[in-house]
Amino acid sequence: MEWNYEIGKAAVKRMQERASCRVFSEKPIPEESLKEILKAGLRAASGGNLQPYSIIVVKDKNKRKQLAKLCANQQFMGKAPVNLIFILDFYKLSRLAKLQKAPFTANKSYLHFLIGMEDIVCTAQVIETAAWQMGIGSVYIGTVNNVGKEISEILNLPRYTYPVLALALGYPKNELPLRERLPFEMTVFEERYPELSDEDILNGFAAKYGNKTRQLPNSKSAQKEWMTSLKEALLTSYTEEEVEKIIAEVEKQGSLKYLQYVFGLHYHAKKMLDYSEEVLKMMKNRGLEPFFVLEK
Ligand SMILES: Cc1cc2nc3c(=O)[nH]c(=O)nc-3n(C[C@H](O)[C@H](O)[C@H](O)COP(=O)(O)O)c2cc1C
Repeated sequence: MEWNYEIGKAAVKRMQERASCRVFSEKPIPEESLKEILKAGLRAASGGNLQPYSIIVVKDKNKRKQLAKLCANQQFMGKAPVNLIFILDFYKLSRLAKLQKAPFTANKSYLHFLIGMEDIVCTAQVIETAAWQMGIGSVYIGTVNNVGKEISEILNLPRYTYPVLALALGYPKNELPLRERLPFEMTVFEERYPELSDEDILNGFAAKYGNKTRQLPNSKSAQKEWMTSLKEALLTSYTEEEVEKIIAEVEKQGSLKYLQYVFGLHYHAKKMLDYSEEVLKMMKNRGLEPFFVLEK
């Protein structure tokens, strides 16, 4: 097809209106559309053109439900007609290396790991965008990482592979509201990284979140749970004395600042470290050791 500026401009405008979709209509994705979208994804750039990834297409309803349950019970994964699971995959390359009597350490190299992850992001995002251009909505699911062992069993994954990202696809049931973003000038810098004052940081994030705070829950027991979680998370980054002061402040205000909520409860500062250790161990059990050089 000949390149056409107006079509391109319309496509870019459509991309500026994208949002994640978590409520899907019953309408199935036609096989042909799915194939075209996937074929677009496989044209994405790949470091050294090695393509150390595979994509598992899951349409089976029971399997989707099983995956949804495993991935922090995110029901929409089961309701989307198609789930794509992106697999970091050094297995196929390791097989070829053996067959060609070539050396092989990609499974132990942080750089190969990083490039592989970058390849997956490029491919997944082309697929996401291509689907969006065809009227198909989607949402990424990152929690596949946390349950790599179980997912590997369900999907029959061989050694040297790990599921790193999923994309639930389907036609949106409703209009998709646009979520806030950091201001353009806080994200795109000309020529060099600027000096950012505290005020710049506060104003930039305020433009995104407003002065969003999280009220402590009304119930005493829930409140206690929040404070225990926040305290544990804060102890990763502040002295005990500082933590006591912060906790007293939060209790006085009756609310958490936005990032106190995010890193104190949602992406819990301590649990994220613990999960990271678990994920690295699961990967190691599957023959993937990106931090091998540090452990020598
Ligand atoms: C790597 C990655 C993992 C994500 N994982 C999840 C997830 O597990 N569950 C979910 O509901 N959304 C997930 N999302 C979607 C984000 O929550 C969403 O992109 C973000 O809130 C911005 O909203 P928007 O995409 O509608 O603009 C993920 C997005 C990315 C890029």
